[in-house]
Amino acid sequence: MSKKVALVTGANKGIGFETAKQLAKEGITVIATSRDEKKGIEAVTALQNEGLGVVFLHLDVNSHESVESAYDFIADKYGKLDILVNNAGIQIESEDWAINTAPSITDDDLHQTFETNFFSIVKLTNKFLPLIQKSVAGRIVNLSSILGSLTLHSTEGSPIYGSKLFGYNSSKTALNAYTIHLAASLAGTNVKVNSAHPGWVKTELGTEAAPMSVEDGAKTSVALALLPADGPTGKFLHLGQELPW
Ligand SMILES: NC(=O)c1ccc[n+]([C@@H]2O[C@H](COP(=O)([O-])OP(=O)(O)OC[C@H]3O[C@@H](n4cnc5c(N)ncnc54)[C@H](OP(=O)(O)O)[C@@H]3O)[C@@H](O)[C@H]2O)c1
Repeated sequence: MSKKVALVTGANKGIGFETAKQLAKEGITVIATSRDEKKGIEAVTALQNEGLGVVFLHLDVNSHESVESAYDFIADKYGKLDILVNNAGIQIESEDWAINTAPSITDDDLHQTFETNFFSIVKLTNKFLPLIQKSVAGRIVNLSSILGSLTLHSTEGSPIYGSKLFGYNSSKTALNAYTIHLAASLAGTNVKVNSAHPGWVKTELGTEAAPMSVEDGAKTSVALALLPADGPTGKFLHLGQELPW
């Protein structure tokens, strides 16, 4: 089957919705997933009404059964997966992005954040890897954040120095480690794995104060999903620029 197939997690809104839309505009069959069936179907219907080839699939990344059934659906229907965009993510520890939560974060918030932003991504990606390896050009995009950069967090005066939401930031640092390790394990194969920083984007998570539109915020994910054979792997990128780990 030559038509590319992409799966985007958390595609019912924000950057994930826009990523699904932009990939579908490239002629890719996009499986737009959502943990909330109603919101997901509404989002997919809106894209289908624009004439785009988008399919809805229920997927709660934290649910083992949900991941298994999404895998079975894609394995049966398509027999491969060309693009996996690990977009779903949460920030639950504070509405104030300017505070340092290291001494105060609750055990529950830390665990929940790592569950969605790190453990679930590792589990889901490793589950789907055999299907991605069946692609002639497999691409895995991990939605990280510049806030996961240890280099910038430890550099006084860096643009993110004052934004120390410990749970969110460290979950993205851990995700970056997964990007590096997985990319190394796949070196020399058709599969590329990269971490994306979308920018500070106007979404529910990014808030209204963010300067970037979702259209621009999806561009890094889309570019990494469509990387050519000589493109990078194991990198941390924002709009083509490499970021420090
Ligand atoms: N916006 C920014 O400025 C910014 C900056 C850097 C990085 N990022 C990253 O970019 C990604 C997308 O963020 P966004 O700004 O578009 O956020 P958003 O508008 O809050 O959307 C997050 C998406 O993730 C979904 N999600 C959360 N938990 C899930 C789960 N267990 N299973 C399936 N889906 C789940 C949400 O579903 P519900 O609607 O059901 O909650 C929603 O669809 C995130 O990984 C975020 O960390 C964003």
